[in-house]
Amino acid sequence: MKAIQVGLLGIGTVGSGTFNVLKRNQEEIKRRAGRGIEITMVADLDVARAQAAVGEGVKVVNDARAVIANPEIDIVIELIGGYGIARQLVMEAIEAGKHVVTANKALLAVHGTEIFAAAHRKGVMVAFEAAVAGGIPIIKALREGLTANSIEWIAGIINGTTNFILSEMRDKGLAFDVVLKEAQRLGYAEADPTFDIEGVDAAHKATIMSAIAFGIPVQFDKAYVEGITKLEAQDIRYAEQLGYRIKLLGITKRTPHGVELRVHPSLVPTKRLIANVEGAMNAVVVQADAVGTTLYYGKGAGSEPTASAVIADLVDITRLQTADAAHRVPHLAFQPDAMSDLPVLPMSEVVTSYYLRLRVADEAGVLAKVTGLLANAGINIDAVLQREADEVGGEGSTQTDLIILTHDTREGTMNEALAELQGLPSVLRPIVRIRKEELA
Ligand code: HSE
Repeated sequence: MKAIQVGLLGIGTVGSGTFNVLKRNQEEIKRRAGRGIEITMVADLDVARAQAAVGEGVKVVNDARAVIANPEIDIVIELIGGYGIARQLVMEAIEAGKHVVTANKALLAVHGTEIFAAAHRKGVMVAFEAAVAGGIPIIKALREGLTANSIEWIAGIINGTTNFILSEMRDKGLAFDVVLKEAQRLGYAEADPTFDIEGVDAAHKATIMSAIAFGIPVQFDKAYVEGITKLEAQDIRYAEQLGYRIKLLGITKRTPHGVELRVHPSLVPTKRLIANVEGAMNAVVVQADAVGTTLYYGKGAGSEPTASAVIADLVDITRLQTADAAHRVPHLAFQPDAMSDLPVLPMSEVVTSYYLRLRVADEAGVLAKVTGLLANAGINIDAVLQREADEVGGEGSTQTDLIILTHDTREGTMNEALAELQGLPSVLRPIVRIRKEELA
């Protein structure tokens, strides 16, 4: 079956990420979606730069309307941003009967009601997973995964730039301006960093989550918005001394009188997981009546993390055409005829690192024997800890514990080494082995 044809409006950081990930993972994406998905046309004011980004096989124009008017294009991705021309183009794409995928939180937070109504009328989808918290599938979680719940509140670190600035100010004692420049250099900040530091970007995202959580229209104009520009380093320090971190939170809460919708710096107890979300990472806590608290964490910005969300929307839309209503999302994510026979590895082929504890005779040469045996097996030692014999077995003890951390090793290799170690006369008890996962 012919691939779904996608037109891309604006190929900057997220656009090129979307193009690259779609290309790199095209086979796997096709097996999930049931049809190939290809960006076949791109509109960008800088045609030469855009053409260089996508190569010769893709048509590049400087007129976005030429993409919308192309009858071959099934889905239009809007990555221009802002409320101006992006709004007109999204409305025109909808009117032309195209499905739209957008990462434009500003547009949806302000004009979402009008846009969704038009999409409803025309029977097309407007998908926007990338608009909130970048690569974190929070829209899907709120709209589908948590649909049984009455949502009580949501609190999120939903602007990476400000979280990066606050983390760096706290850790390195750097001034606000210095850290802002670094955030811009790293590509976290919006084109106009005022939107980040004044809390506007976070408020756009909180507004969208609020609408989804409570079934209310998007109402950015009702949000209370306070950024981090007036925060002083001494308050970050004092808060720390009292057991708190200062985070810019986007909060929306159901109360008996209405919905709270606010963005402002907040003290959060250091022991909360969300207080430990550092740098440009995002996290969203959702409190709901049935499931309780859930936490979503990941990269809220950047080329490929945001592309991940854009492409998820493309797959969702493609499945409208490849599956009947009962099987829109395949049971095991891939289309039934596109399952793979990739084998599940036996445990002996697994690669991980290890914590070993050996009870050994406290005599000369034991450590050398143990480490020598591991070296012969090609097992790289990360750290060794030898306890005092007295501490382990009491006064005058002739036994001690040897604790070894290893680097990554094949489990089969480790099993053979352990059998040999266990056979050493100076190893006095069954060796304790615990696998170690750095999860870095
Ligand atoms: N400027 C945003 C942030 C990026 O810093 O999180 C995507 O919304």
